[in-house]
Amino acid sequence: MDALQAIYTRRSTRNYLPAAVEPEKLDRILEAAKQAPSGGNNQTNHFLVIRSREVIQNLIEMTEKAFAQMDIAEDTYASLKHAIAASKKGGYVFCYNAPVLIAVANRRDYGNNLADCACAIENMMVAANALDLGSCWINQLRWLNEEPALVTYLRSLGMKENERIYGAVILGYPATGNGLPNRHLMAQKGNEITYID
Ligand SMILES: Cc1cc2nc3c(=O)[nH]c(=O)nc-3n(C[C@H](O)[C@H](O)[C@H](O)COP(=O)(O)O)c2cc1C
Repeated sequence: MDALQAIYTRRSTRNYLPAAVEPEKLDRILEAAKQAPSGGNNQTNHFLVIRSREVIQNLIEMTEKAFAQMDIAEDTYASLKHAIAASKKGGYVFCYNAPVLIAVANRRDYGNNLADCACAIENMMVAANALDLGSCWINQLRWLNEEPALVTYLRSLGMKENERIYGAVILGYPATGNGLPNRHLMAQKGNEITYID
């Protein structure tokens, strides 16, 4: 698959098989993350690669607890509104049972933290598609990136004191009939282009 094909056919996967991701594939995806551009070539992304079911389960429970304590306002972002409502109900699982969750931390005091994280996550998602893996951006740990209990827990996993999570991605084999990512081309209705010649 060439680069453009991998970009055009990358779609979010929200249903995974329990099968583990081979370490060789994971290494190649993380190399794609490391090769992403960064502001001033700072290279301060810190990838927390979580394969432990127990740790993922702890994050699910802590996330649900934090969301359940939040209030929904009229102007609450729709996806966040859903997370809060679902958590209050119970049983909210933000990472779709994927076997790998990569949380991307970066320095709190660095102005390009979110941009650098986004470049790395996009590289990982495109690389995953090229390697027949599904992926999906996961934003809950970013929304809750100052939540004290989660910060403490992530610190215990290796996040540094001056770091916070700016995004995350899940990876795994899609639970589709043939185990391959759903690569349908999606007609894009937004994303305006203005040519100035
Ligand atoms: C910044 C950002 C945050 C996102 N957060 C989530 C999320 O928390 N959960 C989720 O299921 N999808 C999330 N997505 C995936 C989008 O919903 C998805 O990319 C979009 O609907 C387009 O579909 P596609 O990825 O299949 O092309 C996120 C995407 C981006 C870029």
